[in-house]
Amino acid sequence: MAEDLNILTGNKAEQYKGLIPQIEALIRGESNLIANLANISAALKEQFGFFWVGFYLVEGEELVLGPFQGPVACTRIKKGKGVCGAAWADEQTLIVPDVDAFPGHIACSSLSKSEIVIPLRADGRIIAVLDVDSDSLNSFDQEDAVYLEQILSFITA
Ligand code: SME
Repeated sequence: MAEDLNILTGNKAEQYKGLIPQIEALIRGESNLIANLANISAALKEQFGFFWVGFYLVEGEELVLGPFQGPVACTRIKKGKGVCGAAWADEQTLIVPDVDAFPGHIACSSLSKSEIVIPLRADGRIIAVLDVDSDSLNSFDQEDAVYLEQILSFITA
């Protein structure tokens, strides 16, 4: 049975730096993609208390809801649509400080105010995106992008 997550205090960088080795240890040696995405979602939600944390998995020309923590969410997102679909199509991390100012944002919840989406690459292609939502404006910056990309780099599936 997995040990409890060691919840860290401190500024954002300190929290990520403490959390990342724990996530690496959690997913090292486990090859099941869904299990690893589920634990990453849980660890980020527990540590930071984000409003919603989860993955959408690439299936053909759509993203389909995968492991997540938070309120129920939209099930399918077409390529290029919303923040998730745009990050997938552009193959790059998107930071949205105010979701209402993002053209085409998909509001799974009206409580979500800002968002970051990071594509997950494996074997040279995008297989999923990590979506993190906050109920406050301006919650994410380049620092989150760097650390969240580092977390996704542990996934090898
Ligand atoms: N807001 C996202 C949709 C996913 S939910 O926020 C969980 C988007 O615009 O792609």
